[in-house]
Formats: sequence, structure tokens, C-alpha cells
Amino acid sequence: MSLPAPSAEDLFGVYLHVPFCATRCGYCDFNTYTPGELGSAASTGSYLDAIVRELEMGAAQLETQGRLRAAQTVFIGGGTPSLLGATGLATLLDGVRNSFGLAKGAEVTTESNPESTSPEFFAGIREAGFNRVSLGMQSAAEHVLATLDRTHTPGRPVAAAAEARRAGFDHVNLDLIYGTPGESMSDLDRSLEAVLSAGVDHVSAYSLIVERGTAMYRKVRRGELPMPDDDDLADRYERIDAALSPTGLRWYEVSNWAQPGGECQHNLLYWRGGDWWGAGPGAHSHINGARFANLKHPARYAATISESTLPISADGVETLTAEQRHTEDVMLRLRLAEGMPRADFNAEELPRVDHQINVGMLAETDGRVHLTHRGRLLADAIICDILV
Ligand SMILES: C[S@@+](CC[C@H](N)C(=O)[O-])C[C@H]1O[C@@H](n2cnc3c(N)ncnc32)[C@H](O)[C@@H]1O
Ligand code: SF4
Repeated sequence: MSLPAPSAEDLFGVYLHVPFCATRCGYCDFNTYTPGELGSAASTGSYLDAIVRELEMGAAQLETQGRLRAAQTVFIGGGTPSLLGATGLATLLDGVRNSFGLAKGAEVTTESNPESTSPEFFAGIREAGFNRVSLGMQSAAEHVLATLDRTHTPGRPVAAAAEARRAGFDHVNLDLIYGTPGESMSDLDRSLEAVLSAGVDHVSAYSLIVERGTAMYRKVRRGELPMPDDDDLADRYERIDAALSPTGLRWYEVSNWAQPGGECQHNLLYWRGGDWWGAGPGAHSHINGARFANLKHPARYAATISESTLPISADGVETLTAEQRHTEDVMLRLRLAEGMPRADFNAEELPRVDHQINVGMLAETDGRVHLTHRGRLLADAIICDILV
């Protein structure tokens, strides 16, 4: 299985971060704030003004470097972008059009929480120019959603996916989380049946990561919640792949499956080492080997922009060495079904690559090294072994 892999220098995308959520899910450590946490420190209006201004300043900066290009992909993530409503999301997309410009046929995605969507919302964003929607489903089992502090009802994500399709979206993703404490195999089967009944062209399935500092982390540490072991997670991964693959949803990255043509071009751009401008509080950018991150708090972010200064965090700037770039390249590209050309590994890595081929974890097709089915279950360990 191989996908066309454009060269990384040709890729340019824009990410916009929306740092608002109605409530905080106990497992999530993303840079996002509830109204109670923000108080009067930042409003949606000041956020929209600030991010549109950041896009203008970012495009001007790239223009002086001779690197301004129209965006081939736009991804609005969060947080909960759908809380901005169709009008707010249209303002963000207009901001990208008026600063960087949109390439013909660009993929334009917004993440959404199924709870803050409706047929009118989907019709509005379709009209504004969005052509892909990603919905946080997580699980179809009520008690699993409760453990995750999700407030939507089990049927809502599938209904939202149907509404999106009726509004004209050909590209719809559902996010699943597997391995939540208390999730049985039959809970997972029910989630997979629900995903398949939704007729979406993309599924992301990540095992639950218990992030330090979250409410869930504290519960696990106090012994109130058990964690599944790695073998159990591998069984669940197999179950997911066995349910999705026969329906034409093919894995193209270890945790992502798509119908042919439904692969997320924006995420592929990240994984293939393309350039992107990340706008919004805490967003990261990657331009020509330089990485930088924005100030995280929405109030500080907006205040800095109001002084006509790019809101880049002083400790968030780094220029990667050739060695660091190579390490990242191996870490991201080996997780892709398309793998990596043999010629892109260095002389020290090649014997270790050959060892992994001999033990059946990697394979080589037309000069490209890629994970086997068994290798996908141990992808992180294999990549560590190659990089040591
Ligand atoms: C920004 S959210 C998607 C949009 C919206 N905020 C929502 O949750 O419905 C991105 C996705 O990250 C995943 N995610 C967040 N924290 C996670 C964690 N600790 N472990 C695994 N997946 C996580 C969830 O699947 C979530 O749908
Ligand atoms: S998972 Fe989504 S809805 Fe929940 S807190 Fe994180 S960003 Fe917000």
C-alpha cells in the first residue's frame, strides 16, 4: 500500500487553535479554558480580532522571507472550535483567505464537539468553505463517556456525522478513545458498530493517555481507576483494525484509518515534515526547520497582538539541528503506511532496520521501509530501537 508522497518543501498549511471548551474533560490537557477559568480575562470577540491580526502579521513575516504561499490545508482545532458557531468559524477562514490565501482544492477542516453542532451549524460552515469535519466521539458506551466526563449522549456523534453528510460534507472523521478504565471489549465493539453505521470516510483511534496534571491522573494515582495493560491495548487495537479494514477504511498512519481519498491532508503534512503556520494561543509553527510556539494564555496572547507584536513565547523558539530533524522524520514517517525510503536512514540505523525486517516488524516494498501488521502493535518500541 503506498500513497503518493509529495516532497516536504512543497507543503504548506495553517493551523488555528480555539482555546475554549464548555467544560473540561477529566483526561484532557490541551490548551483550553472553560468560561469559569477565563472569567472576563478574554472574550470570543477579542480572540477573533487577535487571531485575524496574527494571521496578517504572520503572512507579512513570511512575505519578507520570500516564503509566503497559499495554504493547501487549513485545520481549526482546539479546544472546541464549534463553540464559535458557523459565523465565528467563517471569520477565521476569511482571515486565512485574506492573509495567506487558500490554494485551489485546499482541504479545510474544523474539529467539533458533537454537542455544539446542529444541521444549521453544518450548513453554515459548508457555505463558508469548510469541506471536512472532525467530531470527538470517543465511545458509544454511556459509562465510558461518564468516566471520560463527556457530556454528549451516546447517539449524538453518529447523528452529528449524518447531519454533516446531509449538509454536503464528503469528508467526516470520528475520533475514538480506547482503553478507558472500565471499557469492556463489547463496549469497544458497540463503539465500532456505531462508527461504521455513521458511514464516515475517516476514523482516528487513540489509546487513552493519562496525562499528568489532569483529574483522571489524580484518580488513577489514588487507585480509584485502574489502567489497562499494554497487551490489553494491543488486543483492542487489533479489534479496531479488524472491524475497520474490511469496510475499506485502510490504516494510513498507525492510529488513523481512511477510505481511499479520505486521508487527512493536514495531518499528513505534519507527518511528512511540511511547513505550517500555527495561529492562536499556544499554537506551534514549523517554518523551514524553525519551530516556535505562541503564548498560551488567551489574555496574554491578545494583549501582545494588540501591541502589533507576534505573540511568540520567548522559550518556545528552537531551530532544529540536522540530527534532530532526522530523528523527528523517522519518528513520524515510520508510523505511516507509506513508510520511508531506505535511502533516508543513516548508516548506523540501517543494520537495525534490517534486523527489524528480519524479525518481521518492518518490510520493504519498492525501496520504502514500512511497518508490518505485527510491527504496528509495537511501533513506538521499533522506532526507539532504530534511533537508540
Ligand atoms: C480537541 S479534541 C476534538 C474536539 C472536541 N474538543 C472534542 O473533544 O469533541 C481532539 C481529540 O483528542 C483526543 N484526546 C484528547 N485528550 C486525549 C487523551 N488524554 N488521550 C487520548 N486521546 C485524547 C480526543 O479523542 C479528542 O476527540
Ligand atoms: S477533549 Fe475536547 S471537549 Fe474535552 S476538554 Fe479536551 S478539547 Fe475540550
